[in-house]
Amino acid sequence: MPTHPLYIDGAFAASSSSDTIPVLNPATQEEVARVPAGNDQDVDAAVRAARRAFDEGPWPETTAQDRGRILFALANAVRERAAELAELETLQSGKPIVEAEFDIEDVATCFEYYGGLATKIHGEVVPVPDKAMSLALREPIGVAAQIVPWNYPLLMATWKLAPAICAGCTAVLKPAEQTPLTALALASSFADAGLPPGVVNIVTGRGEGAGAALVSHPGVDKIAFTGSVEVGKAIMRSASDSLKKLSLELGGKSPNIFFADADFEAAVDGALFGIFFNQGEVCSAGSRILVQRPIYAKFVEAMAEKAKTIRLGPGLDRETKMGPLVSREQFDRVRQYQAIGKREARLVAGGHRATGGALDRGWFVEPTIFADVDNSARIAREEIFGPVACVIPFDEEADAIRIANDTYYGLAAAVWTRDIFKAMRAVKALRAGIVWVNHMQPTYVEAPWGGYKQSGFGRELGRWGVDEYLQTKQVYINLDEQPVGWF
Ligand code: NAI
Ligand code: MG
Repeated sequence: MPTHPLYIDGAFAASSSSDTIPVLNPATQEEVARVPAGNDQDVDAAVRAARRAFDEGPWPETTAQDRGRILFALANAVRERAAELAELETLQSGKPIVEAEFDIEDVATCFEYYGGLATKIHGEVVPVPDKAMSLALREPIGVAAQIVPWNYPLLMATWKLAPAICAGCTAVLKPAEQTPLTALALASSFADAGLPPGVVNIVTGRGEGAGAALVSHPGVDKIAFTGSVEVGKAIMRSASDSLKKLSLELGGKSPNIFFADADFEAAVDGALFGIFFNQGEVCSAGSRILVQRPIYAKFVEAMAEKAKTIRLGPGLDRETKMGPLVSREQFDRVRQYQAIGKREARLVAGGHRATGGALDRGWFVEPTIFADVDNSARIAREEIFGPVACVIPFDEEADAIRIANDTYYGLAAAVWTRDIFKAMRAVKALRAGIVWVNHMQPTYVEAPWGGYKQSGFGRELGRWGVDEYLQTKQVYINLDEQPVGWF
């Protein structure tokens, strides 16, 4: 059983903690590796390395072109190692290998995007009404603490690392306890890609251990977090002590709205894709499916029929369309919501643990659909983060918008209709950071990603993503040689 060390100051390093975390294959519950449960000392060593690299190392002297080349080299390394990284991602997260391959391709694309952007970040000259010049400079914020979840392990890490490197920041990354292996694997390509020591550090560990220590460390200037609302709020409280800059991406309860005039087959397909993709372990999952009354009964029936045909299996099997849930904890959570749903609504598909053959060994649950769900039900209000869909009927357009917005989340929403006026009215009225029309889930590195309301704040990806790692310095240059002459 390999024990993976931490990555600090440009080298793999042992933890000063003897505590370890097992990494399990969720398809079999077998241990595949162990990583250190990093402690305060490990976090301190990593933050100090990041601090040194930011304040003194060669990093502050690197040019934007240098940073761009490093990011392109990282993209190339990911492409060369794509098969290995995808397999490792599936092994630790359970996701189907075909999805993991898409994720790894997106990782490479994200490094490339920020490689290209590095040379396009620049300040502005501001016209001021005096013999003077005012400049607005864009400068890196400093040391970034980056805490990521387990649903897209390496991709979420890259959404944070790539813009940080692009901006000239340094980083300490804490992967999720369930899925630390791909980030550690990528670290072995950091030096070859030209990253100076200390620019990116990785500390594995538990949320309440390494995670909390990282968030409260005085050497950290900025925190980027993706995960639960509960932990997001705890991080915000902790960060308020030293007013660290924050960006939070906290999931959702996203509405996927189907008007009666939508293309029926594409709509049913889009409803299933929106919620069952990646086992429903997706922050933007279309977990509330709003269907207009005239097509409602037929829609529910078609969804239920098709859901029953989804092929479950170990992620490493190429035929698998849905893998196991990531962990025992997540499995228990989803099973609990299946039970709650049976009391709150009408079960039309799934509802149980998935069993039979290889499925008995892993954390598999059936794709589950509840119909006739009231939007005030717990299954419609709380993020389940698994393959559980709530179907909610509506009558008028205004009802759909009201129900869709009646949530404390606001990450994403989708609307399906062939009427462009109706679509555009919905786009305007929906209170969400991402709105899809006649599709759900496509995500592009070029376009901003992030939530409204309690889905968090700040934006990842695109030029918005790098803004989170920059701050603005205003410079005044006097062009008038005369004394002020005031006193
Ligand atoms: P979590 O929010 O506890 O964990 C996410 C990351 O935060 C992990 O790296 C974890 O180690 C770290 N963390 C946990 N507590 C921390 C603390 N006190 N200080 C600093 N870092 C801390 O999420 P968890 O427990 O894995 O899943 C629970 C629920 O959270 C899910 O069922 C889902 O609803 C939601 N979630 C949302 C995600 C999203 O993409 N927005 C991703 C993962 C979970
Ligand atoms: Mg947690």
